[in-house]
Amino acid sequence: MPLSSRRSPQGDPPSIPEPHDLGATDDSLDRMLEWFGQHGDTYRVFAPARNSWTWVVHHPDDVKRVLVTNHRNYTKGVGIDRVRMLLGNGIMTSEGEFWRRQRRMLQPAFHRRVIQRFAGVIRDRNAALFERWAAAARASQPVNLTHAMSELALEIILHAIFSEDLGRLVGDLADNPFMLVTRESKRDPRFAYEFRQLGKVVQRIIRQRRATGRRQFDFTQMLMESVDPETGQGMNERELLDEILTLVVAGHETTASALNWTWWLLVQHPEAERRLHDENDRVGDLGLASYDDVERLPCTLATIQESMRLYPPGWLLTRRSIGPDRLGGYAVPPGTDVFISPFVVHRHPLIWDNATSFDPDRFGAGRTEGRHRFAYIPFAAGPRHCIGENLATFEMLLHLNGALRRFKLRPVVPGPVALEARINLRPAQDVHMRVETR
Ligand code: HEM
Repeated sequence: MPLSSRRSPQGDPPSIPEPHDLGATDDSLDRMLEWFGQHGDTYRVFAPARNSWTWVVHHPDDVKRVLVTNHRNYTKGVGIDRVRMLLGNGIMTSEGEFWRRQRRMLQPAFHRRVIQRFAGVIRDRNAALFERWAAAARASQPVNLTHAMSELALEIILHAIFSEDLGRLVGDLADNPFMLVTRESKRDPRFAYEFRQLGKVVQRIIRQRRATGRRQFDFTQMLMESVDPETGQGMNERELLDEILTLVVAGHETTASALNWTWWLLVQHPEAERRLHDENDRVGDLGLASYDDVERLPCTLATIQESMRLYPPGWLLTRRSIGPDRLGGYAVPPGTDVFISPFVVHRHPLIWDNATSFDPDRFGAGRTEGRHRFAYIPFAAGPRHCIGENLATFEMLLHLNGALRRFKLRPVVPGPVALEARINLRPAQDVHMRVETR
């Protein structure tokens, strides 16, 4: 069925007979795929925990409507209620005029010209990882890839946020207190409590900087100095804290997950792996790259994009309608929870040929023209799209550029891995690899 020939039904969308708290259960993704197969683009399922219907929309036209053209009619809804305890009122969770102000203040720090100044940090963290991988290769010891990507992404974002203060802090405390974030994979109230304790550490850093007037290039400094162009006001300490803690979480788990899936896909597809070795050998070390260097690695970039198509770390976006709307041709009542799953949209058979197969050429030159713009949304879309997209892309490319020129990874246990779809899409078990030097 062409995308333009959607019917305009009356009444309610198909209703799933059994109640289900979609997004809060381990089998939510499996259920969603099953219901998509049975009912198509629009259906609703009763959520006992909220005593209300959740609408699920999979059509890119509805993605566009919710995230872009009618975005003012939607708040972020259920998914965000779940992480509010962790992130306070930071930019991921806030709404309305306050969110708009925070977005205006944070946005300049994520500009490509700013992001490229983190190339040194990214290179240094990778160099430390590659030393560990080289040692593992010499000792024929497998490495825990999932853990390594999590630690790498966390270290990069922590250095980007705190720069030299991080070293000082770790020296003072004899440990990096933020490592809690990779050591503990559960995201329950106990974790949220321990994580919020880190606020004290951040507060100390902010106060010391204010007291000494010492300036450094990092996100903390940029946020401390940012001023809302419309009001001329900066952020108070509470607001700074929430934004910084938000960046720690948002900036690390998703990137780690995307890198994990990219490696996992590459080792299953030797031909794609060989092309990336060739491309990176030919281009050489991007080193202290400028953001434009991203374009020198088109196959590597296409591979990351294809990996995020098949395994989008943010597999579920949740919204809640404020007023009435129409989705899939049905009338949506005010106050309805509306879910969009990038995972399902990215495998929509009307858009993607052989949707489940790994084919980075889908993102090759000329191949993306004419494709529905909202059929690929790993970073969401519209005003609340991921603010860190450029940083994540830059970081992933620099990592692969360094790693692919030196190493080949081989799975310890070949074959499929089970998915864990909670806040992010991760492998249910850590992935282990053998490292070979090239
Ligand atoms: C591959 C890596 C990443 C992926 C796939 C990703 C994905 C996403 C998605 C899907 C959203 C929208 C969530 C929603 O609307 O419910 C989002 C929002 C956000 N992301 Fe990312 N992200 C990544 C990396 C990063 C990085 C590196 C940072 C920061 C350093 C970051 C910071 C944020 C923030 C602050 C928001 C909220 C923006 C707002 O609401 O205004 N992300 N991300």
